[in-house]
Amino acid sequence: MKIIICKNYEEISKKAASIVMKEIRKKPDLNIGLATGSSPIGLYKNLIEAYKKNKISFMDVKSYNLDEYIGIERSHPQSYYSFMHENLFKHIDIQEKNIHIPENDITRIDDLAADYNSELHENQLDIQILGIGSNGHIGFNEPGTPLGNETFIVTLDEQTRMDNSRFFENIDEVPKFAITMGIKNIMYSKKIVLVASGKEKAKVVYKMIKGKVTKSLPASILQLHPDCTVILDEASASVLVKKAAAEHQKFNKTVKQSPIKP
Ligand code: F6R
Repeated sequence: MKIIICKNYEEISKKAASIVMKEIRKKPDLNIGLATGSSPIGLYKNLIEAYKKNKISFMDVKSYNLDEYIGIERSHPQSYYSFMHENLFKHIDIQEKNIHIPENDITRIDDLAADYNSELHENQLDIQILGIGSNGHIGFNEPGTPLGNETFIVTLDEQTRMDNSRFFENIDEVPKFAITMGIKNIMYSKKIVLVASGKEKAKVVYKMIKGKVTKSLPASILQLHPDCTVILDEASASVLVKKAAAEHQKFNKTVKQSPIKP
């Protein structure tokens, strides 16, 4: 894992956008996996700004979103379909036919996961953008999800519904189900960029990077990805930095107490 610690959210967003743009310039028809939530909004703003200044085009880019709620219409303001159009797609030149967001039509519930999964099989992602949930989820792979899962329908964790209730009138309005790429789909992406900001993410970020790889903290699997970059601000990196400093001090003390004898 490559860890980049930036000063604040603005810098995280700029850094993440520069990585994405570099990849698009190398391969204008790349397949990009996208996340919703508050973490990537700044990254999307930077991409929009670059597009408006004619620095980048998304004309041939194909996008694949990680997840979508089930139980609300695509037209609902809090659907991930609406989120992506509002925060990115309607501002850039991506073609509607190249946008892929998991379908959430409840009448087709039995086919939704398999259909989206075949699209992912046919189109390996070149880069996947991720955020991390306070319980360690990526996409909607909640703690306990088998690490070998591919796209599936998930019952959302109460913690996740609570975290996401800030976007709804109240917690009862937050859907109980969602469709999500599985960990296996995410790990199959050639490159992964995870962004996290704020002190409420500090503990989970530490566990993701330094804890053991376990399905109880799905994001820990990213330690095993060959090209994963984690971009943090000082607040979300605070536990990581504090523990690293403590370990360093302990090491120095041990070395002083038991000097190497000639
Ligand atoms: C959303 C998604 C989620 C979020 C995570 C963090 O598409 O995949 O895993 O990335 O819940 O959300 P924020 O960024 O709002 O803290």
